[in-house]
Amino acid sequence: MSPALAARAPGKVNLCLFLGRPRADGLHPLVSIILPVSLADDLRLEPAPAGARTDEVRCAGVAGPNLAADALAAYRTASGWDAPPQRLTITKRVPVAAGMGGGSADAAAALRLAAHAAGRPGDPSIREIAPRLGSDVPALLEPGATLITGAGEHVEPLPAPRSLGLVIVPSRAALSTPDVFREADRLTLARRPEDLHALAHAVRATGSLPPPELLHNDLEPAAISLEPSIAPALERVRAAGADHAMVSGSGPTVFGLFIGADGPARARAAALGVPGAVAADPATPALSAPRPA
Ligand code: C5P
Repeated sequence: MSPALAARAPGKVNLCLFLGRPRADGLHPLVSIILPVSLADDLRLEPAPAGARTDEVRCAGVAGPNLAADALAAYRTASGWDAPPQRLTITKRVPVAAGMGGGSADAAAALRLAAHAAGRPGDPSIREIAPRLGSDVPALLEPGATLITGAGEHVEPLPAPRSLGLVIVPSRAALSTPDVFREADRLTLARRPEDLHALAHAVRATGSLPPPELLHNDLEPAAISLEPSIAPALERVRAAGADHAMVSGSGPTVFGLFIGADGPARARAAALGVPGAVAADPATPALSAPRPA
């Protein structure tokens, strides 16, 4: 019997997110730096109990279809992996429907685990599968700082930001990603193609921690319009001493950046003063690699 494998699935924040007008396929072009963080789900892949006929995904607290199940099925189809049915157990820590890419992170980690279990760690076919599962999945396959363009299918690894601490404030509310993109269209927040192109150049030139004028999320007004409690949450993070406070992705999660050598220590101290907040650090790909469980 094959041994059990484990992998971490870091959630992400977006250090910038610039929005373009919808393409013919309905998706919006983006220029975004995705930063995976130490707030992560834990995944365990092992053979399913005798009698199981298909792969099963167990994810306490999250009802309904799971993107990680789609990831396992897509990997079997693409690679011909024909191991007996597997059980994937997900321990959730990343808030759900929160703009932190938790479902995408789990799907990306499921692909890493399946390739490893198949004896093909880092199988290039997982790169082809990832964009079909969701626009954050390609950037979370090797969870390090990444610049994404297109609708997330173009992925450029960036150096890990050093001297950075984060405070993450999950919300009690949930936001649907398509609703937030639709609200952004209603509010006409999208930029012209030439402006998006120029921003991609500017962001690419700055590395993984952009200057303050580029620490910006175009979806923020749309998220606040649908979930007004985001605005006071941003204020609380600023009042706790963050150098910068933003909405992550389509929200409603809010995060604060604490920049500099003392950033991680300041973030840990600040998190104690913000209800529900957790301190986090940037994640690196090595921390998320499959390992024996
Ligand atoms: O990629 P993900 O599954 O998170 O996207 C969910 C939905 O969000 C898409 O179906 C689309 O409505 C919207 N979206 C978009 N443009 C993107 C990413 C997501 O319009 N770049």
